[in-house]
Amino acid sequence: MKVGVIGAGTMGSGIAQIAAAANCQVYLFDKQTKALENSKQKLDKILNRLIEKNRITAEEKQRIQSNLSYTEQLSDLTECNLVIEAIVENLDIKKSVFKELETLVANETILASNTSSLSIASIASALQNPNRCIGMHFFNPAPLMKLVEVIPAVQTSDEVTQKVISILNDWKKSPALAKDTPGFIVNRVARPFYGEALRIYEEGIASFATIDWTMKHFGKFRMGPFELMDFIGNDVNYTVTETVFEAFYYDPRYKPSFTQKRFAEAGYLGRKSGRGYYDYAENAQNPKP
Ligand code: NAI
Repeated sequence: MKVGVIGAGTMGSGIAQIAAAANCQVYLFDKQTKALENSKQKLDKILNRLIEKNRITAEEKQRIQSNLSYTEQLSDLTECNLVIEAIVENLDIKKSVFKELETLVANETILASNTSSLSIASIASALQNPNRCIGMHFFNPAPLMKLVEVIPAVQTSDEVTQKVISILNDWKKSPALAKDTPGFIVNRVARPFYGEALRIYEEGIASFATIDWTMKHFGKFRMGPFELMDFIGNDVNYTVTETVFEAFYYDPRYKPSFTQKRFAEAGYLGRKSGRGYYDYAENAQNPKP
C-alpha cells in the first residue's frame, strides 16, 4: 500500500514512521526543506536507539528507511491509496491542501486529517467527493501511542471508515470510533482535567506541584496535569481549549484559563521552551509538593 503524509513535523514524522515500519511505501511531503531534513535526522536517531535497545535490527532500520521518501512535490503523492494530513491546525489552510490534493489522486484514495479539534465535516466540504474524507487522530508520540481516534464526518462512507479501521489494525494500533464533535473523545475528556487543575491552583487551594503529586500518587496518572501541559506545550494546549470552548457555544465546562493564557503569551510554553509551570534548566529549583 502507498501512503502519503502531509506535514513533516512532530505528528507527520511519527505517522510516516508507523506506516513505513508496517511496510507501506510512504511519501512524506512538507513545503519546508528544513522540516524534511529534521524529520529524516530524527528518524535516524530514533531507529539507532531502537537498535541499541535490541528492539529492531540494522536490517529493519534499513527496510524502514528505504520505505520512506521525502518530498517537496505534492504531485509525488499521486499514486497513494491513503493520504494523512498533519499540517498546521488551521481550517482554511487544511481545506486548501485537501482541495489541491483531490486534483492529484485517484477517486478511491482516502483523504484523512490528523486534526485535534477541527470539524471533519468542514474539512470534507472542501472536496468534490467528501465521502472519502475522515479523521485519523493519532497521539504524541505517534509510534508509541496505540490509540488512534477514527472520526467519520457526516459525509464519510461506511466503506472508508471500515477500511481505515482495518488499516490501523494492520499497523498494530487500537482504533476508537468517535463522532465528529469538538475534541472527539480524549481532547474533550482532557479539557476539564486541565481546566479544574488550573482553577484549583488559581483559587489558591493547592500549588501545582501538590496537584501533580496528588494525581500521580493517588489518582495513578502517569503525569500530573501541569507536567502534562508542560509536555504538550501551553500554547498548543491553550489553543485546543479555546477551540473546544467556542465549538461548544461557550459552555463554561470548557472555559480556558487566564493563567495558561499568560504563560503561553510569556513564552513559558513548557519543556520545549525550557520553562513552563516547571523550570527545565539543569540546576533548577522546582517547588516540592
Ligand atoms: P508541527 O508544527 O510539528 O508540524 C507541522 C508541519 O506542517 C511543519 O513541518 C510545517 O512545515 C508543515 N506545513 C504547514 N503548512 C503546510 C502546508 N500547507 N503544506 C505542507 N506542509 C505544511 O505540528 P504537529 O504538532 O505535528 O501538528 C500537526 C497536526 O496534528 C495539527 O493539526 C495538530 O492539531 C495535530 N495533532 C497534534 C498533536 C501534538 O501533540 N502535537 C497530537 C495530535 C494531533
